[in-house]
Amino acid sequence: MKVVVIGAGGREAALTWKLIQTLGHANVYRVRDIPRRPSTPTSPSHGTPLGTSPSASHGVAHGGAHGAAPGSPLGATLDPAVADFADWCREEGIGYVIPGPEAIVADGLGEALAAAGGPPVIGPARATARLESSKTWAKEFMLRHGVATAPAYLADSVAAARRRAAEESGPVVVKFDGLAAGKGVWVCDTAADALAALDLVEARYGPDAPVVLEERLAGDEISLIGFTDGETCHLLPPAQDHKQLEDGDRGPNTGGMGAFAPVPWCDHPLLDEIDRTIVAPTLRGLRAEGLPYAGPLFFGLMITAHGPRLLEYNVRFGDPEAQVLLPLLADDLFGLYLAAHERRLADLPPPRQHAGAAVGVVLAAPRYPHAASHGLRITGLEDLPADLLVFHGATRQSDAGWETDGGRILTIVGRGPTLETARQRAYAGVETVSFIGRRFRRDIGQRPRRALPAATWQEKAA
Ligand code: AMP
Ligand code: GLY
Repeated sequence: MKVVVIGAGGREAALTWKLIQTLGHANVYRVRDIPRRPSTPTSPSHGTPLGTSPSASHGVAHGGAHGAAPGSPLGATLDPAVADFADWCREEGIGYVIPGPEAIVADGLGEALAAAGGPPVIGPARATARLESSKTWAKEFMLRHGVATAPAYLADSVAAARRRAAEESGPVVVKFDGLAAGKGVWVCDTAADALAALDLVEARYGPDAPVVLEERLAGDEISLIGFTDGETCHLLPPAQDHKQLEDGDRGPNTGGMGAFAPVPWCDHPLLDEIDRTIVAPTLRGLRAEGLPYAGPLFFGLMITAHGPRLLEYNVRFGDPEAQVLLPLLADDLFGLYLAAHERRLADLPPPRQHAGAAVGVVLAAPRYPHAASHGLRITGLEDLPADLLVFHGATRQSDAGWETDGGRILTIVGRGPTLETARQRAYAGVETVSFIGRRFRRDIGQRPRRALPAATWQEKAA
């Protein structure tokens, strides 16, 4: 079986690596991007991701690049670029397409490729991808189906959001409705902050932009990813991402500076509660509304003193969560994708996991997240101990060797019997691999739990 992974980052490097283990090198292709589909009205610009070279059209290679000019509009079904990609898939005998980033499914590649006679894209239908591509739609879905989430006000214009924000006494989160490459959410301390965020929304997206205004929740964030076919959801271990640039969760927000899994304190009773209050109602909702889904579904959770709450859905693996979850997965990854596509996940046992933990540290460009870096020589890759994994997020090869080519350059992943050993191994790798000015966090995998669960408070009070 031949498959093609679409996407340019570390997540897709991890997907490719894991798929190769069972399908073999010759059967796993990697394509960086195909041209953008026309965006939905609420997604003005999800341009080329950092690290995607806007290179020539069809440079398809195993593990290599298939870059096509980004930005060329794709017609609904018969766009030449999709037709071209479908032709290429047929020539190569590609059986399935595995999308990495959300924009591919949100823009309807699955539907367009099917119309062009191409292979199936294993993912949600375009209509289902609104779980990620529209925050308003996702919030309404959560409320319709009783998914535990933060109370919110859905504003259909910036002016309406302003009026409401001015009335709020507690801290709020301002969320632009559409895909914004991680830049559409403002976690605010005061009403003044919220109003300033709304000014930015208006400047960027216009006065008619829909906005979600949400109660700001306190607690610990967890990324939970499950494989689902809409009926069954097989959860992978809980992970944590480190989104801020600097140690101690300070500094600007980034695409993710590192991740680890499993999260030691996220135990079975808590997972059961997440299943009962969030995962199961989500599946019921998908079924009730006839929304097809196949593949990984990401639940971005806040574990509050009052229980787990859903902050967001992503219709894909997280990056850098994939880089730690896939090395822990003992089962065949393609088997999970295929079972999801064929709606027979219920027949599979829950995916087996390797014992122990994995910690992934991102080495980012010197001026990340403000600027990408190109052409800095990367040294030490060949000296990494064999038990370490390194996933290339934004690199290129020159005659001299590997070079930086984007924002989040590499993820170095250590595995071990405990979180602490995995962490030590990952950081030994960080000491080995270098490029000028690399940025990384020194505290990945060392996040103390912020909020105590309510039960513990009650126990203490008793
Ligand atoms: P989202 O894209 O909705 O997950 O938001 C991005 C980030 O904003 C999340 O990972 C959280 O760190 C933060 N965030 C979103 N919603 C809330 C909330 N209701 N309370 C506190 N933090 C939030
Ligand atoms: N790591 C979070 C995300 O991929 O959105």
